[in-house]
Amino acid sequence: CVLLSFFVLCVFLSFTDPDDVLRNKLIVKMFPLMQDHTVEDPGAPTIAPLSHRIKWSFVTKENVTTILVALEGGVRITENYKDRVQLLSYPGSPTDASIRISELRSSDTGVYRCEVQRDIEDSYDIVHVQVQGIVFHYRAIMGRYSLTFEKANAACTQNSAVMASPEQLQAAYDDGFHQCDAGWLADRTVRYPIHSPRLNCYGDKEELPGVRTYGVRDLNETYDVYCFAEKMTGRVFYTATAEKFTFSEAVVACSNKGAQLATTGQLYLAWQGGMDVCNAGWLGDRSVRYPINIRRPQCGGGLLGVRTVYLHTNQTGYPFPESRYDAFCYTGRSECALPHQQPTC
Ligand SMILES: *[C@@H]1O[C@H](CO)[C@@H](O)[C@H](O)[C@H]1NC(C)=O
Ligand SMILES: *[C@@H]1O[C@H](CO)[C@@H](O)[C@H](O)[C@H]1NC(C)=O
Ligand SMILES: *[C@@H]1O[C@H](CO)[C@@H](O)[C@H](O)[C@H]1NC(C)=O
Repeated sequence: CVLLSFFVLCVFLSFTDPDDVLRNKLIVKMFPLMQDHTVEDPGAPTIAPLSHRIKWSFVTKENVTTILVALEGGVRITENYKDRVQLLSYPGSPTDASIRISELRSSDTGVYRCEVQRDIEDSYDIVHVQVQGIVFHYRAIMGRYSLTFEKANAACTQNSAVMASPEQLQAAYDDGFHQCDAGWLADRTVRYPIHSPRLNCYGDKEELPGVRTYGVRDLNETYDVYCFAEKMTGRVFYTATAEKFTFSEAVVACSNKGAQLATTGQLYLAWQGGMDVCNAGWLGDRSVRYPINIRRPQCGGGLLGVRTVYLHTNQTGYPFPESRYDAFCYTGRSECALPHQQPTC
């Protein structure tokens, strides 16, 4: 008796529950539904469950990283994913290859491939996952450590964001975020993420890297703040003239294009979406920043991220309003009204 045909289909129903994101759980569930389509041959042996191999990989342009392999009831998870990936119902339901990835980080954005192999038959499907949201450090115009809890909350709101949760700051830390400045979080604690401890950046963990915490603080104490911007709803664009703008000219320049100066949170989201501009521009809170996605020595010293132009060398104060920079504008429309106005609209 021969098995006449066999194939497995990975059908993906994937979603991120928006409530999970808001509750800071950041969980993506993926449900590839596998179905055996076997042409019945009355004499054929029953297909042994667990005889197929399930493999999940994370695929980037350069690399394919194995996340896990499941075979004969056993699951092997790659070191990097060990504590945060699980097959939801394997081996209980051996044909369900659903996985859950928790503690999502921005670097988890990408393509996931589910491969199911049985004998020489091989089938796969992919799913695109976009991890949204970004945590950023915010220092007010008044200087370092100038925000009470209430003012910190308002500063995030004014910048299209909310105060970050400890889980969000931890996820940002896991992605490489380092900042030696204590900031408020939504749970009324004060923390900062440290990868390379040095003098005055030790905190409670001495020389170990990690997110430091001062614990829950009196709401009248003043610090910087960590904000979380969740999702880009419109579009940030860069605008410039040869002579550049004072702050008030920048306000007008955006308004002339049917837009307004972008907030700091919007610029961070635009950066996360790939925006790269090697010129500093005004934002709505009167700060001056620029988004760098391509390493160049002359743009932000070869560092990536949203770079901030401070007034003082100790990284406090915003530039004077009459100084001249370009501008970053924001419009709620996600596309240019007039296509010929690309790329600056
Ligand atoms: C590819 O993945 C390996 C192992 O995860 C890693 O060491 C290497 O740096 C990656 N290469 C690129 C170009 O991302
Ligand atoms: C904060 O300061 C205000 C005014 O100085 C005072 O009324 C309030 O009790 C203080 N709150 C806390 C939690 O210390
Ligand atoms: C930073 O430098 C400015 C100007 O020199 C000074 O007024 C301010 O107190 C300094 N702030 C900190 C936190 O050192």
